[in-house]
Amino acid sequence: MKSRVSKHRTNRVITQSKQSYSVLFVMTLFALCLILSNCQSDEEIKRQRYITEGILVYKNNCANCHQSKGEGLAALYPPIAGSDYLSNKKSVICLIRYGQQGPIVVNGKPYNRPMPAQPQLSDLEVAELVTYIYNEWGNETKLTGVKEVTPVLEKCRK
Ligand code: HEC
Repeated sequence: MKSRVSKHRTNRVITQSKQSYSVLFVMTLFALCLILSNCQSDEEIKRQRYITEGILVYKNNCANCHQSKGEGLAALYPPIAGSDYLSNKKSVICLIRYGQQGPIVVNGKPYNRPMPAQPQLSDLEVAELVTYIYNEWGNETKLTGVKEVTPVLEKCRK
């Protein structure tokens, strides 16, 4: 009789500790989810910030020629919105800083006017511009950071 009681009690203790383990487990999972989703939203906040800055840099340095909606201007300035040239991000990064000369074809149409270099733009501003352009007109939903832009600019430095 005595031993049955104590067995019962042990069982209860075991069940209780199992329960508290599973509570702990659920709480850990919950904490992990919170941490992960926070990281994601930090990245998202940064992307939004780059886009907002990118719009300003674009308006001040590019919209004169490529127009505010990126549609370009007749046969003079090629469009950036929906441009097939965007598929080569490295050369886009380089031409923003160093300009572009000689004939090029954008969406099947030929252009041949010099685009002036923009040496006044910092690596960060180039990154913001690229993020803006690719999120607005290039089917991307991600950030192009300075870490990606700087080594590309180093390579094509003139
Ligand atoms: C003075 C006018 C002018 C300005 C300012 C200018 N561009 Fe251009 N851009 C051009 C021309 C002209 C070309 C085509 C060059 C050629 O014919 O070789 C071009 C080409 C491009 C291309 C590649 C072709 C395409 O349309 O996809 C991109 C991308 C581009 N420019 C982005 C920019 C960005 C970003 C800025 C602002 C930092 C800028 N441009 C400022 C005139 C300009």
